[in-house]
Amino acid sequence: MRDPSLRRSVALFRAFLRERSDPAYCYGLLARDSAEQVERYVPVKGSTVVDVGGGSGHFTEEFRRRGAHAYLFEPDPRELYAQGRPPEGAVLADGYLLPLADGTADVCFSSNVLEHVADPQTFLSEMIRVTRPGGLIYVAFTNWYSPWGGHETGPWHYVGAARARARYQRRTGRAAKHTLGENLFAVHIGTTLRQVRARHDVELVSARSRYWPFLAGAVTRVPGLREFATWNLLLILRRCPS
Ligand SMILES: C[S@@+](CC[C@H](N)C(=O)[O-])C[C@H]1O[C@@H](n2cnc3c(N)ncnc32)[C@H](O)[C@@H]1O
Repeated sequence: MRDPSLRRSVALFRAFLRERSDPAYCYGLLARDSAEQVERYVPVKGSTVVDVGGGSGHFTEEFRRRGAHAYLFEPDPRELYAQGRPPEGAVLADGYLLPLADGTADVCFSSNVLEHVADPQTFLSEMIRVTRPGGLIYVAFTNWYSPWGGHETGPWHYVGAARARARYQRRTGRAAKHTLGENLFAVHIGTTLRQVRARHDVELVSARSRYWPFLAGAVTRVPGLREFATWNLLLILRRCPS
């Protein structure tokens, strides 16, 4: 599917609506889409891909299908086994401290993890450390002021995280999976871009909305608006030669 295009965004949105009933379909499509995004910058076949916080491994599997040596690093055993057996060789490991030597990866990949760590800068530094000079870093995350920023409680997080959680519990009879400050953190686009641009070890290749069908790059250039309209920020970084 052409990216960006209305057809692609609609297909991804439809898949997302099936996330609970058919996670394999939803994450399978997202994984194919993300791998294609990576392939716009570097060949995946034969490369070493490190998937940080990759959950049950849909992305790792997709990179392997495309001929990569892909490795899954995931700290939560419940996530790792959520869809049955994780990919062979999956490692139970925290993204803050990856059991990898410097410069191991051709591609370091993380999808929707940054908003789940308390210290996104350290997480990002570790992704950069394990990427070889010239290698690619793919980071996508949902920012806090996105309509989906509160995840399952969104968009009610706009009236406050605690109120949104209480509403979710009332409506569903279940506690929300995410609690702000525990396993979900308010990450902002402007701050993240400033932090990335201030670094000397990476070049910012692209900053765009991951899912938007049009103006995907333009929307991230408008301070204020970008915090609400980007939905999910995709950063493509290249590790500078040391
Ligand atoms: C919303 S899930 C995303 C899973 C998968 N990457 C995807 O896009 O479907 C967030 C993942 O981040 C992982 N995570 C949370 N803290 C982490 C950390 N410090 N290091 C690595 N992964 C972490 C969680 O365990 C969970 O699997």
